[in-house]
Amino acid sequence: MCDAIYIHVPFCVNKCEYCDFLSFKSSGSERDKYVEYLKREIELYPDYSYDTVYFGGGTPSLLKPEDVEGVLKKLHIAVGAEVTLEVNPKTVDYDKLKAFREAGINRVSIGVQSFNEKHLKTLGRLHDRDRAIATYEAARRAGFENISIDLMFSLPDQTMGELNEDLDQIIGMKPEHISIYSLIWEEGTPFFEKLSAGVYQETDNDLEANMYEGIIERLRGAGYVHYEISNFALPGMAARHNSKYWENREYVGAGLGASGYVDGIRYKNLVEFIPYYDKIDEKIKPVESEERVDSEAEEEYRFILGLRLLEEGVEASGRYLKRCEELERNGLLERRGKRFVLSQKGVFLANDVFEEFLD
Ligand SMILES: C[S@@+](CC[C@H](N)C(=O)[O-])C[C@H]1O[C@@H](n2cnc3c(N)ncnc32)[C@H](O)[C@@H]1O
Ligand code: SF4
Repeated sequence: MCDAIYIHVPFCVNKCEYCDFLSFKSSGSERDKYVEYLKREIELYPDYSYDTVYFGGGTPSLLKPEDVEGVLKKLHIAVGAEVTLEVNPKTVDYDKLKAFREAGINRVSIGVQSFNEKHLKTLGRLHDRDRAIATYEAARRAGFENISIDLMFSLPDQTMGELNEDLDQIIGMKPEHISIYSLIWEEGTPFFEKLSAGVYQETDNDLEANMYEGIIERLRGAGYVHYEISNFALPGMAARHNSKYWENREYVGAGLGASGYVDGIRYKNLVEFIPYYDKIDEKIKPVESEERVDSEAEEEYRFILGLRLLEEGVEASGRYLKRCEELERNGLLERRGKRFVLSQKGVFLANDVFEEFLD
């Protein structure tokens, strides 16, 4: 039984230099058409009762509030559900945020990335620092009591001092939730090309580790719980939707290129508009690939995803118990009753730990 739905909105005003998420520049009529198909795709799923809904992108805040409302009306939404929309500061003002709130969105995740003007320019962001702060304040005034902010670190030539200024700023704002990702140099992006051409250099490993350590220390000191490798929340404000991914729970994925996990099958939707629309016209789910998750794969997912949750971790038994005990001896995992969690050292070497669970 699914109680979560991810809805992909593959449109952005402009492509940021570092980003390889599936998103395109678009016209209003293309977005209108997409929303109509999205609603029809949702009808291809059973009438689940959703306790979390997540509009991700791309830039879902590019859609009109009435379009988002139209999609929400297609869903059965449980009382008290968490309904999130990713917001790019360039695309909203107070009125639009208020309209999203009235349409049923009760949580926004604002993509800020940095409060530093120089880094915002390098990243190819279309907003400046003031616009990012104004968007947060407008969201508060529009009635959002659950706001998340995305930041990135380990940016080209970023200094520890600049990161600390970003942390000062965000701690002063006190959003309920903060996601902070270390920059990934994604192949095929302008950033990757500039890296290959020697225009940018990757951050030195020690500096990156120091930055991550500083982030953890400062956000914890400010009252945030470090509940997932890249995610921090005020007590009780962890992202309910994303937590379901890490708990290896099932969810519907709708929209171009969306991933989902339904009835024991992990699937990925088609990534091109025409075939995606054609399938929906035929009343067939627009799925490109599927993987039936057998019990072995399920265990693998349970560990790799579950260990990301730093408080809960995973209960170990069977074939992975020995591996967990070995990792415990190496100081990478810690035992909490029947469960194992990443140790302080393990958090820094998380990818190496996850590899131990890949067969
Ligand atoms: C799909 S975006 C949603 C936010 C919205 N589109 C925006 O950027 O304003 C989700 C988040 O992923 C992060 N992200 C995107 N590309 C990344 C990369 N190459 N490395 C690290 N984080 C990245 C950014 O923090 C971004 O806010
Ligand atoms: S980071 Fe966000 S706004 Fe920028 S291209 Fe990616 S999805 Fe679009």
